[in-house]
Amino acid sequence: MLDSYAVIGNPIAHSKSPQIHTAFAQQTHQALQYGAILAPLDGFRNAVESFRQQGGKGLNVTVPFKLEAYQLATRLTERASIAQAVNTLKFENDEILGDNTDGAGLVRDIECNLGIPIADKRVLLMGAGGAAQGVILPLLQRHPSLLAIANRTPQKAQALQQQFITYGNIVSGDFMRFSGENFDLIINATSASLHDALPELPIDLFAHTTLAYDMMYSHEPTRFLQFAQKNGAHQIADGLGMLVEQAAESFFLWRGVRPQTKPVIAMLKS
Ligand code: ATR
Repeated sequence: MLDSYAVIGNPIAHSKSPQIHTAFAQQTHQALQYGAILAPLDGFRNAVESFRQQGGKGLNVTVPFKLEAYQLATRLTERASIAQAVNTLKFENDEILGDNTDGAGLVRDIECNLGIPIADKRVLLMGAGGAAQGVILPLLQRHPSLLAIANRTPQKAQALQQQFITYGNIVSGDFMRFSGENFDLIINATSASLHDALPELPIDLFAHTTLAYDMMYSHEPTRFLQFAQKNGAHQIADGLGMLVEQAAESFFLWRGVRPQTKPVIAMLKS
C-alpha cells in the first residue's frame, strides 16, 4: 500500500495541494498518494482520527482548522509551538507531530522567488487569526525594521504584539491607525479574500516601492491586490508561491527529501 497523505480543510475543493504534492512525489521518486478531505466544521478531530486509523501518514491543515490542529498535536516543533498554530501533522506510532511551515513558505517566496530581502523593511501584516500568528516569528527572524500588525478587531492584534514583543520591533492597531504611513511590504493574512471581501483599508498605505502580498491565491487578483494596485503599490503577488514553498517544507518533514519548487510554481501558473 502506498503511504497516504492529504490536505484537510473546509472548504477544500479549490485546494491545489494534491497537485503540488503529486508533482513533488514524481520529481523526487517518492511512492505516495495525496488526497483532499472536507471535514465538517465541528468534525475536525474525528476526520483526522479516521484518516490516521486508515494508515494515513500525514496531513496538511488549512482554514479553519489550524488552531484545532495545534491542540490535537501530542508534540510540536518549536516554530509551531511559538506560532500556536499547526499546518502540518505527521503521524508516527502513537505520536501526532505538529509543525507550522507557513511562515517559512512565506519568507522563502518573498525573498527567494520574488527577490525582496525583508531585512530593514517596514512590514504591515493584516489580520490576527491563525494565518497571521503562524508567520509573525519567521518574519521577525528576517529582521524587518518594523512589523505593524493591523486587524479589524485591534485587541487581537495587540494580543499578538504582546506575545511576540521580545522578538522584534512590533506595533499594532486597527487598519486606520496606519493611515499615512508607507510600508515596503503589506501582507494580507485576513480571511477576507476567501469570501471575496476587502478589509476597510486606508488608501494611503502604499508607496511606489510597496510589494502587496495576499496569502490567498485565486485565478484573478484578489480584491486586496486590485485595491493595492489601484492605490499605488509597486508590485502585487498572491500566495501561490507561498503555498508551494510551505508544501515543500511539509514534504521535507514527512519524507526527508527537499523538492524543487520553481518548476511546480511554473506548472501551476501555466
Ligand atoms: P485564519 O486562521 O485564516 O487567520 P481566523 O482565525 O478566523 O482565520 O481569522 C480571520 C482573520 O481575518 C481575522 O484577523 C479577521 O478579523 P477579526 O479578528 O476582526 O475578525 C480577519 N477578517 C476576516 N474577514 C475580514 C474582513 N471582511 N475585513 C477585515 N478583516 C477580516
